Amino acid sequence: MVILEIENVGKKYGPLETVCGVSFPVAAGERVALLGHNGAGKTTLMRMILGLTTITSGQIRVLGTAPGSRKARTATGFLPESVAFHGALTGREQLRHFARLKKAPVKQVDELLNRVGLDHAADRKIRTYSKGMRQRVGLAQALLGKPQLALLDEPTSGLDPISRHEFYDIVDDLANNGTAVLLSSHALTELELRTDRIAIMSKGALVANDTLSNLRLGAQMSIRIKVTLETGAVERMISEIGGERMNGKSVTLTCLQDEKIALLGRISSYGPAVKDIDIIPASLDDLYRHYSQKTASEISEAASC
Ligand SMILES: Nc1ncnc2c1ncn2[C@@H]1O[C@H](COP(=O)(O)OP(=O)(O)OP(=O)(O)O)[C@@H](O)[C@H]1O
Ligand SMILES: [Mg+2]
Repeated sequence: MVILEIENVGKKYGPLETVCGVSFPVAAGERVALLGHNGAGKTTLMRMILGLTTITSGQIRVLGTAPGSRKARTATGFLPESVAFHGALTGREQLRHFARLKKAPVKQVDELLNRVGLDHAADRKIRTYSKGMRQRVGLAQALLGKPQLALLDEPTSGLDPISRHEFYDIVDDLANNGTAVLLSSHALTELELRTDRIAIMSKGALVANDTLSNLRLGAQMSIRIKVTLETGAVERMISEIGGERMNGKSVTLTCLQDEKIALLGRISSYGPAVKDIDIIPASLDDLYRHYSQKTASEISEAASC
């Protein structure tokens, strides 16, 4: 079931076109990562989905209704880029306050404090919290009322690596329970295994929107194969197959996805001289660079604006 529909959406601030011709759906249980450089339009798109800023062209539907409608508001949880809290309140008091505003059951507060790992600090004033702890309050706040759509704007900024890991466990739980998740991030490597689809914005336009494996196929980027060999076989492989010597013991070869099996066949013909093989696919960082460097004409073609 599609929870969020974004159709040919554009946004102008005066003459400045900040979002242009963006279309993609987010289904129940789907985790979509929204990537893009600073100023690409990610936050603006989220603000339009929330009904906080008007849409200049196209349309957005949340559960079939307009952004900002009562149904859309009740169904949506939002973690903003910078979270502001009342420092004099404790974490528990702040969340109870949000629960009342959102008409969510107050008993969810204790459950969520536990879920985001804040129960030990729940009765301390928020002004004594670290940045990561505030981010956790923000996440708990976004999850109040069990939203059908979660919009998380750079949710892992300020979180240490273990906290990031725990954060993605919470996202997985949400998606497994049917919530549609749209999250923006600059931390690419952590997204590789934790999202179903990746949408990349560049200068306001959507330049990619697909699964990681399809993005890899579409980009036709090289795969690196690192072969560790007996010393004598290194020169032979370089002269017969090519590649680059790495430290006297290994050779790094590059090939395209559809050449991989044939190349592995040639490598295996070296028999026991091959000690190890590592296949290194293009990382999300490489893909991101590839897609976000599309030329201006490709972007406007993709965005039809
Ligand atoms: N209220 C506003 N008035 C005028 N221009 C705005 C306004 N809000 C955003 N913009 C412009 O819209 C563009 C997109 O900004 P946006 O905040 O959506 O980017 P972003 O992708 O979220 O970037 P970041 O990664 O830095 O958070 C920028 O050029 C920004 O200056
Ligand atoms: Mg932003």
